[in-house]
Amino acid sequence: METKTLMAYASKYGSTQEVAEAIAATLSERGLSVDLQPMREVHTLAGYGAVVLGAPLYFGLWHKDALNFLSRNEDALAQRPVAIFALGPNSIDEKEMQGSRAQLDTELAKFPWLTPVVIEVFGGKFPAKLRFPESLIASLPASPLHGMPSNDVRDWTAIRAWANSLAQKFQPVISR
Ligand SMILES: Cc1cc2nc3c(=O)[nH]c(=O)nc-3n(C[C@H](O)[C@H](O)[C@H](O)COP(=O)(O)O)c2cc1C
Repeated sequence: METKTLMAYASKYGSTQEVAEAIAATLSERGLSVDLQPMREVHTLAGYGAVVLGAPLYFGLWHKDALNFLSRNEDALAQRPVAIFALGPNSIDEKEMQGSRAQLDTELAKFPWLTPVVIEVFGGKFPAKLRFPESLIASLPASPLHGMPSNDVRDWTAIRAWANSLAQKFQPVISR
């Protein structure tokens, strides 16, 4: 019986992980049985009736763990409802949100078999201290990241509302 929901995430600096935790908690509150796992630790989708995938955008690309996850789970994902989110812009400016959404759409277009029930982009959190290699790139004066202050534009109300709408979508397909 595929009664569980998988919330699988990738994260470099932890902000997407925190969003994934909030989504998993909301789905659980709505009565779903949820496993929260880093994507790279998921070896099978057996037992899962629905899947949520969340990962950040870096330099126009979706986190490589997410791309690898899609590649190695094509058959299983094609048979299940899949919801996708990305953390992206460090501002909720509409143009920036659209730009991040376009980046995500370009990445997802590499997987033409993938038909998510919903795709969403949430504002992210720019880390206070970057590690290599991001630190090196951001140190270049020509980089748009140069001197970027740490900030956090994650909209927790929108994130929880999205998770609630997911619960409604998933409930009918998960035999509980
Ligand atoms: C070096 C760097 C590059 C980034 N590049 C992009 C990007 O191309 N597009 C985008 O929408 N967001 C970009 N972001 C914003 C991240 O997606 C955002 O900070 C996210 O919350 C980070 O997630 P994490 O804490 O889970 O690693 C970038 C952030 C950093 C630090």
